Amino acid sequence: MSMHLSAKDNETVLVLDFGSQYAMLIARRIREAEVYSQVVPYHISAEKLKEIKPKGLILSGGPGNVYAENAPQCDPEIFRLGIPVLGICYGMQIACDEFGGTVNPAKEREYGRRKLKIERPGDLFDGLGPETTVWMSHGDQIEKIPGEFQTLASTDSCPHAAVRSDNHLFWGLQFHPEVTHTPTGNDILHNFLYRICKCSGQWEISSFIDNTVTKIREEVGEDERVVLGLSGGVDSSVAAVLIHKAIGDRLQCIYVNNGVMRANESQEVEKRFREHFRINLRAVDASAKFLEKLKGVTDPEEKRHAIGHTFIEIFKEAAGDIKNARYLAQGTLYPDVIESAGISTGPASVIKTHHNVGGLPAELGFDLIEPFRYLFKDEVRKVGEALGLPHEVVWRHPFPGPGLSVRILGEVTGERLEVLRGADRVFLEELKSSGHYYNVGQAFAVLLPLRSVGVMGDERTYEHVIALRAIETEDYMTADWARLPADLLERVSNRIINEVRGVNRVVYDISSKPPATIEWE
Ligand code: XMP
Repeated sequence: MSMHLSAKDNETVLVLDFGSQYAMLIARRIREAEVYSQVVPYHISAEKLKEIKPKGLILSGGPGNVYAENAPQCDPEIFRLGIPVLGICYGMQIACDEFGGTVNPAKEREYGRRKLKIERPGDLFDGLGPETTVWMSHGDQIEKIPGEFQTLASTDSCPHAAVRSDNHLFWGLQFHPEVTHTPTGNDILHNFLYRICKCSGQWEISSFIDNTVTKIREEVGEDERVVLGLSGGVDSSVAAVLIHKAIGDRLQCIYVNNGVMRANESQEVEKRFREHFRINLRAVDASAKFLEKLKGVTDPEEKRHAIGHTFIEIFKEAAGDIKNARYLAQGTLYPDVIESAGISTGPASVIKTHHNVGGLPAELGFDLIEPFRYLFKDEVRKVGEALGLPHEVVWRHPFPGPGLSVRILGEVTGERLEVLRGADRVFLEELKSSGHYYNVGQAFAVLLPLRSVGVMGDERTYEHVIALRAIETEDYMTADWARLPADLLERVSNRIINEVRGVNRVVYDISSKPPATIEWE
């Protein structure tokens, strides 16, 4: 069941994706401006748009050249629906081409910050001064604008950096308002949404919660139950509380202790959900079974495989005797949906549904409930806050499904798990007490597959090495190592060496992604 507010009961602005790396970001910016937005393929038909009745359309950028043989083209009728359209970069160029203008390669590829001179203020540029900094990233640009267009702004190297059609239905920007390098970008998008599309700003988390609770109640009815695999992470935790609000005791959560969780994690999940939220929780301690499967395994992908398979087996068994369990709830997010739909990779890619978020295959035979199928991560966090989940759950760092197994390089054994858990606990405690935890995107300890020489008292030691990893990131696709203060690192190192038996050396990972990854395996 899809849980988004359909366009019929909420104003929507659609982003037509021409293969831009920024399409999803544009949708996020629109939602941040409190207007609901979805990303759709660039070839969506004008007929379909008539049904959806969006308040506005944004045509994204794209890597293509409008005159290329396989250039992505939208249905030209979309420009004649009476719906305001904002074309960004490639999106502007195809509209200009459609209306009789010409597009040509710029003298040189333009990439970086440029000064935009606004020649016709107001409308899109309302509230802005005569000049503003904008982010350019393009090869082609408009050479001649169509007859019924006007130029609104230019830069030294781009004479038509912003244009408008005389009927005020098409607006084009050669630069990218959606990126933070365009400091007034949000104002420009806001003007498009509120001044040009006449949106009223109905996208609110509170109405999302109310609507979703109602929809879940309707879908699930009076007798059926919903099963949810709770991991303790943000998405499954917020989903549990939201669904519990809708159907109470007919939500059955299952938490599987896979033996590679961090110190105290299993107890905390049980305490929080069972005692605090009073949610039905079946906690299965399958650590022995998982550790058995991990015995002798050193290859990272084999570890993932062993854990994934065993999880499905245990989950199936645990869910097996729940009466009337027709539904499986999953915390699938909108970026996963967009990615698996292959919108960004063009029309040739196959549309497939996304099954793998909770690591559970469709063959389990449940109907899916995915309340966050249309939400971005920051929106799920807002839902969590509005539902009263504790700050430390809502803002928790991501933790990989295969858990500590991919942070123990080499074989996972009880003894090595103990060492890593001890070191990781110290690191996280110090990050939290110093206030740095919430400034980094992810932080953890890694146990290296080697020993090094040290000296303690008069004794020579030959013990484990712990690597600390802390990163800053926006989207986990790229990341920079966090510049944590030296005194904090020193405290962590001292405590680990003193408190965790078997460790005599701590190192700090100063590599960025790419070329390194965030995890070590
Ligand atoms: P990498 O190491 O690829 O990590 O830079 C990017 C993000 O993904 C997480 N990660 C995983 N999450 N199962 C998961 O659920 C996995 O197998 C897995 N591997 C990496 C990682 O923690 C980081 O947030």
